[in-house]
Amino acid sequence: MSEDQNPQRQVEAAREAFEGDFEHFERLANDPVELSRLDWAKAEAERILLGELHTKHLGKKSGIAACKKLIGRVPIDQRASFGQLVQQAEAKISQSIDEAELALKDFIETVRTASESLDVTIPGRRLRPGHLHPITLMRQRIEDIFVSLGYAVEDDREIETDFYNFDALNIPEGHPARDPQDTFYTTDGFALRSQTSTVQIHAMQRRGAPVRMIAPGRVFRRDTPDPTHNPMFYQVEGLCVDRGITMAHLKGTLAEFVHRLFGPETRTRFRPSYFPFTEPSAEVDYSCFNCGGPGCRICKWSGWIELGGSGMVHPNVLRAANVDPEQFTGFAFGLGIDRTCARIYELDDIRLLFENDVRFLEQFK
Ligand code: FA5
Repeated sequence: MSEDQNPQRQVEAAREAFEGDFEHFERLANDPVELSRLDWAKAEAERILLGELHTKHLGKKSGIAACKKLIGRVPIDQRASFGQLVQQAEAKISQSIDEAELALKDFIETVRTASESLDVTIPGRRLRPGHLHPITLMRQRIEDIFVSLGYAVEDDREIETDFYNFDALNIPEGHPARDPQDTFYTTDGFALRSQTSTVQIHAMQRRGAPVRMIAPGRVFRRDTPDPTHNPMFYQVEGLCVDRGITMAHLKGTLAEFVHRLFGPETRTRFRPSYFPFTEPSAEVDYSCFNCGGPGCRICKWSGWIELGGSGMVHPNVLRAANVDPEQFTGFAFGLGIDRTCARIYELDDIRLLFENDVRFLEQFK
């Protein structure tokens, strides 16, 4: 028999091969510091490798399995002692693997328990319920008043074609409002609506006449931010079209609106103005809800606060929306929500409303 074929030597070779492969697991099994470097996932991976080691050194194709096959071939007088040698080697390998397996299993169990454990004595985290933004609160108050007057609430798109933003509103080519310095345009030529008046057209096209609706929403203008201007702000559009509607209806409606919003003693004032989509047009002011007239900090010592623009819908606008101006007339108005909100809550600067400072916003619950 050559050295290689020496059965004892083969048993020894099988043991040495195992010990070489097992060295790493030996450290893990016997050194808690080494083990503690693992996390749950790594420990699971080690356990799989250990399973593979078991197959390699104790499975059907292992060195030990080959030695077992040799037992029948060694001379009869050496067979019993050789058999014992193989058994001892197998038992040693098996025991080592079992110990490492146990160490890994215990470690995984500990890590899992720690990760799933729940300390019921820790005080709970206080829930911070949200609340509505002051502009939303303001918008809802306005909506409630107009809904009670029989108006529908319309919602519409913020990005418009030139037709809805300008042409249908009787804003001719070359009008300064069309200037890119005043209006934001998308790269493919759509306009971010610069006023909620665009919804007048959609509403008349959709509903025909008669129609009574308000449209609260966001609008965009290239205005430089300051205490009374933002490039993005909220308006509420109002539109009432029917047979025989006059300026008196407009005045009566807005007077009723400010009575309900600020109190029955509130007065309105209409100043002549110009909007391409209304004729005649008027700016609407209301008497200061704080001082009632003499002047105070809130109304900037004038006794009046601006509400917005208004007027009788221009016949060209009715025509653009397929409403016959011979049969129908109407009024429209557009109010700025942000400025009204700032006045009511006595804010010096409308920019505060969009700074998203929770310490500021949570005052308006
Ligand atoms: C208009 O936008 C007209 N569409 C209103 C209208 C509707 C007239 C229907 C006739 C018929 P004006 O540009 O004045 O009008 O804006 C209306 C309100 O929006 C102002 O009173 C103001 O409260 C608010 N507003 C205007 N620009 C800004 C801005 N940059 N930041 C905040 N609020 C603004």
